[in-house]
Amino acid sequence: MKRKWGLGILGALGLGFAVVRINGKLRPGPMTMKLEQFFLTNPVRVAYFGPRDALRLAGDLSGLRVLEVGIGVGVVLSEIAHRVGEGGQAYGVDIQSEAVRRTEHRLSTEGVLSRTGLATASATEMPWADQSMDRVIMVAMLGEVAPSQRVTALEEARRVLTPDGLLVITEFWPDPHYIPLAKMVRHLRQAGFSVVDVFEKPMLYSVSAKPVRAFEP
Ligand SMILES: C[S@@+](CC[C@H](N)C(=O)[O-])C[C@H]1O[C@@H](n2cnc3c(N)ncnc32)[C@H](O)[C@@H]1O
Repeated sequence: MKRKWGLGILGALGLGFAVVRINGKLRPGPMTMKLEQFFLTNPVRVAYFGPRDALRLAGDLSGLRVLEVGIGVGVVLSEIAHRVGEGGQAYGVDIQSEAVRRTEHRLSTEGVLSRTGLATASATEMPWADQSMDRVIMVAMLGEVAPSQRVTALEEARRVLTPDGLLVITEFWPDPHYIPLAKMVRHLRQAGFSVVDVFEKPMLYSVSAKPVRAFEP
């Protein structure tokens, strides 16, 4: 009986993943908010592919200005807002206004909205000043940006980072827009970053990188 349940759950997960992956190929770009809500907030995601590993290489965030690019429904940004504490600021941007609205609701419910700044904008053109962020975080985001724009989005992250700031990118394999680590490292080098550290576990990696070329306005 237990075996039947186990196989049923695995089958349902496999089918769900196949549907999302085919959908991702047929309709490139951001997932719909309904799919995001389901895939990003379920307990398996939060426990295994969640904020803990996404922020592992970001260090102590207290008192820092930390920007997440591609916030979805705010699962990672909420953790960032708690970690920066009252002396820090958490910023978030998403190309979908509905994502920003849902994140705002989440942060407000958790009582941390006052230390956050949210914007609806593209990763390739963000409304923050040069060198205004200590950390930039991207989780399962870059693969949703058109291939020709990915290095531009990383260059934009470099623009807003302080010279000693850190970019941390996390990708996990069930995501239909997953970018393999070797390809990500190539993108990072092209955009003027050098890799600092890599964390890997089955189906997930996180890579931290620092600007090697100072941003020239
Ligand atoms: C798979 S979700 C991940 C959300 C969040 N980082 C998390 O891990 O819970 C990717 C998000 O990136 C956003 N996104 C996609 N392309 C973007 C772009 N060019 N600029 C900003 N956000 C983008 C999507 O709208 C979506 O909300």
